[in-house]
Amino acid sequence: MDVKKLAEEIKSSFQEELKNFENGNLNFEDLKNKFLGRKGLVADAFSQMRNFTDKALAGQILNSLKNELTEKVNSLTENTSSAKTKKLDLSLPGRKPNAGTLHVVTETQRQIEDIFFAMGFEMATGPQVETDFFNFESLNFPPDHPAREMHDTFFVEGDVLLRTHTSNVQIHAMKSQEPPVRVIAPGKCYRNDTPDATHSPVFQQIEALYVDKNVTFTELKGTLDAFVKALFGKATKTRFRPSFFPFTEPSAEVDVTCVVCKGKGCNVCKQTGWIEILGAGMVDPNVLEAVGYDSEIYSGYAFGLGIERVAMLKYGIPDLRLFFQNDIRFLKQF
Ligand code: PHE
Repeated sequence: MDVKKLAEEIKSSFQEELKNFENGNLNFEDLKNKFLGRKGLVADAFSQMRNFTDKALAGQILNSLKNELTEKVNSLTENTSSAKTKKLDLSLPGRKPNAGTLHVVTETQRQIEDIFFAMGFEMATGPQVETDFFNFESLNFPPDHPAREMHDTFFVEGDVLLRTHTSNVQIHAMKSQEPPVRVIAPGKCYRNDTPDATHSPVFQQIEALYVDKNVTFTELKGTLDAFVKALFGKATKTRFRPSFFPFTEPSAEVDVTCVVCKGKGCNVCKQTGWIEILGAGMVDPNVLEAVGYDSEIYSGYAFGLGIERVAMLKYGIPDLRLFFQNDIRFLKQF
């Protein structure tokens, strides 16, 4: 093989690629590697040394080719602007790292979790895409209960739906273990609601469930009282109003002292001094039987609260939609 011809070929190929580099179609590292890299064209030519008849001459030619290309490549590093920016300018002020923070709803969720973890509750989870059985039937919703209807439930297909509350996790938790069960279950829920200041088709709840022998309504009251005091402050009181849920009996709607006016009466609490924060009750015996627990031996309580609602009260946020608009100016405040 003719070493001169090979050297010429490599040179003209370099000129071609140099154009590509100058047009921005090839970056500096790739140009350099293609010719001068360990597996580059120059190294490749050297490795063919034994095929050349005059080895001394071939050595000279390839060495001068290598020097020539090295010089050209080095001159590029000095002249090109992309290479210049790589030099560290110590006189520039540093860039402040833009650290993110937790979303205020996540922050609130963790505060609530920590209070219950301290009381001995464990974390439980369940699917957001659920079957009618776990979301309704096992929770004692009669077949014609309005909550199952198209207008407040997102049906996926057949009896598969997006869960409308976190109460489905009650059933999963009880089916997977024997009492005592003491769990909380945070997560997203879905309802076919039109967004407004207090409604969103996606929102988050925290469910709590405690089942054991001799669990009483008094314990439910004591636990919730301790919880709201830890969350909103020692002066916070609870008020239980009779209510109805298919899966608890008796059931209650629980109010707390208005966090804004401290009970005096204001716009937020509509002059009542109270604000509703959760639904609660004693687990209905039908639910215990549905998961195979003996309702003559075991009893329990459950409650569920909306996390966004708690965050709105705690931080005085007037509109639920603010949580989802992802306006950094809003989110940065927390
Ligand atoms: N699942 C109910 C709701 O979404 C809340 C609740 C939970 C009530 C547990 C009682 C017991 O409104």
